[in-house]
Amino acid sequence: MGRLSLDGPARCGALIAPSPEWHTAGMSRLLVVHHTPSPAVHAMFERVMAGARDPSMQGVEVMARPALMANALDVLEADGYVLGTPANLGYMSGALKHFFDTIYYPCLEATVNRPYGLFLHGNNDTDGAQRAVEKVVTGLRWRAVAAPVAVRGEPTREALEACWELGATVAAHLTLHES
Ligand SMILES: Cc1cc2nc3c(=O)[nH]c(=O)nc-3n(C[C@H](O)[C@H](O)[C@H](O)COP(=O)(O)O)c2cc1C
Repeated sequence: MGRLSLDGPARCGALIAPSPEWHTAGMSRLLVVHHTPSPAVHAMFERVMAGARDPSMQGVEVMARPALMANALDVLEADGYVLGTPANLGYMSGALKHFFDTIYYPCLEATVNRPYGLFLHGNNDTDGAQRAVEKVVTGLRWRAVAAPVAVRGEPTREALEACWELGATVAAHLTLHES
């Protein structure tokens, strides 16, 4: 196989652009990218998935990817995103940062204005992690369609309900066939 020659980051995005068949089938795809290191974060992730996969969300396929496994093609082929991370040392997890490092330039031009949501978990202070994620998605020009869900300590019933709402809200935006 010959080597691909790339002129720059935008060219890379063009080379791996998704096939158009997906959208002509009338389906949208929600990609949930998460770093889930503990039961508390897993409980939040599960409720986000349950909200996104609520049967009322017609025409939306929901796909989950651990942040260390997600790649630029996953992002390009999706229409909206939910991001999940613990707070680590006042920042997002290294795993989610790795995800952004991987996809940023390949997706920079192709994913402008796509809807996203964010959930975070920490023991005492998630503000730095939230700011860090928001700085990157501002660069990507993704569009927040729900308030971030930030949970400290053991997730309460209300916190898990907020996670469900988060997943459902971002998925609902995709039923409108936004991109
Ligand atoms: C290296 C490390 C750094 C962390 N830094 C923060 C932090 O800056 N803010 C915070 O609220 N929690 C911090 N935590 C706690 C994690 O966010 C927490 O362990 C994670 O969300 C999982 O929750 P759990 O330990 O209650 O299961 C840190 C944990 C580790 C291991």
